[in-house]
Amino acid sequence: MISSRLKISFFQFLSFHLIIQFTLISSNFFEPFNVTYDHRALIIDGHRRMLISAGIHYPRATPEMWPDLIAKSKEGGADVVQTYVFWSGHEPVKGQYYFEGEYDLVKFVKLVGESGLYLHLRIGPYVCAEWNFGGFPVWLRDVPGIVFRTDNAPFKEEMQKFVTKIVDLMREEMLLSWQGGPIIMFQIENEYGNIEHSFGQGGKEYMTWAAGMALALDAGVPWVMCKQTDAPENIIDACNAYYCDGFKPNSPKKPIFWTEDWDGWYTTWGGSLPHRPVEDLAFAVARFFQRGGSFQNYYMYFGGTNFGRTSGGPFYITSYDYDAPIDEYGLLSEPKWGHLKDLHAAIKLCEPALVAADSAQYIKLGPKQEAHVYGGNLHIQGMDFSQFGSQSRCSAFLANIDERQTATVRFLGQSFTLPPWSVSILPDCRNTVFNTAKVAAQTHIKTAEYVLPLFSNSSVPARFIVQNEDSPQSTSWMTAKEPISLWSEENFTVKGILEHLNVTKDESDYLWYFTRIYVSDDDIAFWEKNKVSPAVSIDSMRDVLRVFINGQLTGSVVGHWVKVVQPVQFQKGYNELVLLSQTVGLQNYGAFLERDGAGFKGQIKLTGFKNGDTDLSNLSWTYQVGLKGEFLKVHTTGDNEKFEWFDLAVDAIPSTFTWYKTFFDAPAGDDPVALDLGSMGKGQAWVNGHHIGRYWTIVSPKDGCGSCDYRGAYNSGKCRTNCGNPTQTWYHVPRAWLEASNNLLVVFEETGGNPFEISVKLRSAKVICAQVSESHYPPLRKWSQTDLTGWNISRNDMTPEMHLKCQDGHIMSSVEFASYGTPKGSCQKFSRGNCHASNSSSVVTEACQGKNSCNIAISNALFGDPCRGVSKTLAVEARCISSSNSGYSHY
Ligand code: GAL
Repeated sequence: MISSRLKISFFQFLSFHLIIQFTLISSNFFEPFNVTYDHRALIIDGHRRMLISAGIHYPRATPEMWPDLIAKSKEGGADVVQTYVFWSGHEPVKGQYYFEGEYDLVKFVKLVGESGLYLHLRIGPYVCAEWNFGGFPVWLRDVPGIVFRTDNAPFKEEMQKFVTKIVDLMREEMLLSWQGGPIIMFQIENEYGNIEHSFGQGGKEYMTWAAGMALALDAGVPWVMCKQTDAPENIIDACNAYYCDGFKPNSPKKPIFWTEDWDGWYTTWGGSLPHRPVEDLAFAVARFFQRGGSFQNYYMYFGGTNFGRTSGGPFYITSYDYDAPIDEYGLLSEPKWGHLKDLHAAIKLCEPALVAADSAQYIKLGPKQEAHVYGGNLHIQGMDFSQFGSQSRCSAFLANIDERQTATVRFLGQSFTLPPWSVSILPDCRNTVFNTAKVAAQTHIKTAEYVLPLFSNSSVPARFIVQNEDSPQSTSWMTAKEPISLWSEENFTVKGILEHLNVTKDESDYLWYFTRIYVSDDDIAFWEKNKVSPAVSIDSMRDVLRVFINGQLTGSVVGHWVKVVQPVQFQKGYNELVLLSQTVGLQNYGAFLERDGAGFKGQIKLTGFKNGDTDLSNLSWTYQVGLKGEFLKVHTTGDNEKFEWFDLAVDAIPSTFTWYKTFFDAPAGDDPVALDLGSMGKGQAWVNGHHIGRYWTIVSPKDGCGSCDYRGAYNSGKCRTNCGNPTQTWYHVPRAWLEASNNLLVVFEETGGNPFEISVKLRSAKVICAQVSESHYPPLRKWSQTDLTGWNISRNDMTPEMHLKCQDGHIMSSVEFASYGTPKGSCQKFSRGNCHASNSSSVVTEACQGKNSCNIAISNALFGDPCRGVSKTLAVEARCISSSNSGYSHY
């Protein structure tokens, strides 16, 4: 029996072998190709390439969102997707790996490959990224003798283990370029050059070791180190900044790469929101390619969400929208996405000339104007377009870096008008196809529309349905109190103040310190007589401290290593003093993160007693980690009944340290879902056991927003929005986490809020607008690569066009405004000017209504000429609705 099972015929063996071969080949995405580089560019399969890369961090979205995000990146003109690898997610417990759900890295890489895009994998494994602890697992700080990111054996051992694990995994899954996979490049470390000096000689040694260790993995594709001016010869050093057009790598043999083009910025609780205007961003990118760059990655193309407790610190918010071209919910951010798409198409038209030339020819066109010309055998002096043979490839970038003035320059015998702070792109050295400051792409207004009171049809007792016509409110909330007392059997008592992370291991944000303080008659008399009160004094504290006396919350302090002086009031006799130390995202940047810790530092005293100060670190303290609700897992569908829940009265007074739960139905359709937690204070929320993140209704300062001018160098303080409002009120609940009905929502509230006002909203781009004038360039899609030498485009095709499109398959239900002539204002504030074609509305309605997208020529031929000799503009505002409730058939 056994022997017959083992008998495999030669043919069986052969077919078995063929099956293996076949599965290996069929799992590949490309014909195997080599990746190398020279001083000019990455060389992919023997060809230099100009590459646009889209930064997307896979755990900041759900796997269900990945295909759409990748498709939108591709449609936007990306060639590459770039991501970090998140060590803390993949090795949550030392030696135990996790590659599922949002951490299914292999699936993500495969989806990128399937879409035909390449992948740049930044392993780090330190990643910064506004990610908790910079991506390090918190257990790493407990490895004996460890010092992070320096020439330290325990650190190097763990780092090498993890980096090897990832490279091996990619190789096993056939994901490297030479295996036919999408991975064209790796990264080791991250901006180590910023902190290398902090480690003296050890820094240099570590850097050299990290580079050597990476190369020794023999992955067969190039490695980069970003912001590493002393990177070894065989590693590409790359630039991270708002602008990288002046960047010079540390060797003439290396290409100019931009691994992080910061197209927005991150946000802290209590801060306003960043906005980087697309005119400036496009300028920065165009300048980069103008001045010899060949790989540019948007950090971020999609920022997404810091679900759970993944956001870093100090105080980074749950949203990681970043003002990126694709917003937190996966919707396009217009006009950013559309304008960059046009820019990418323009750069792609130049690619043959850009890769053919080893360097550009520089021509000064004016005091702050310059041209860089690629190809065409040019002689700088006395150039004339007629000297180009029909076969020569020539592309040029004309820049006006003047922040104020428009400039008119002469180039190759023609005159060009360049708006301030802009670049014109001429793929044939003759025709401008794109200018960074001329935005023809549509814009849109996004709304988060109220859709649902929070209740599930199947779960609401009728008596709880609150009828309020103005704002239908949620109903049927249950509540439970988080005890301000010892409940855990794992609590322990020691003398002295222990460091926060040493106790919690970051398994929770919360660490409770309990002690007793004796107050005598003399103390009370002393306070009354001297009109003083005692205070808890701590030299230094982060992130949040709450002080409870005898079960009552008496004070809260928020800050990043700030001094605490918190007055307290005691009763005579024994008082229970509870200090609750809370983290709001662990530090993710800087040297010596392992020492940074959390909670309290320095002296901790009780001041103002008759007999002087009490050193609290001499007392016995009882320690308890986390919340009882967390411990019981009451946020999960399986375990939420473990609490004793009570019905919450509609007129209940907001209460601190309280749990709430309810059930709700998912709104119909596919639009992304947000939870509006604007009525709450600070806490955390879960849907069906998925941690949607920390929330906090802390308000940003009133000042600091003002007007926004794209001109001039951007910094993260410029063009801020949302001043005077809560930093974040909407929290993304991915569709994949929702069932059709009966979704469990659990909220833990620290400071007091009104859950009845929590609502479910649908995020969509309901209003779209565009404004295109006769002076805009024709749409990029009208030009094609084959025209590069001949440019056989007829004059008719040179008409500018307006392109309108509703997102995600929605259709235009109405045209709210249309004027061809001299319209004024901006989206939602358009008005007619002196010149207006009376058929504007009917022409646009005819072209667009009921459709998902439409193109309208900016031309008298279509509208008639309402005012001769005047330059005309078309402005349109239209509404988009979901095609399922439109009554129109889908186009
Ligand atoms: C960079 C870092 C990124 C990210 C970025 C700011 O310095 O490399 O990981 O933190 O800053 O968003």
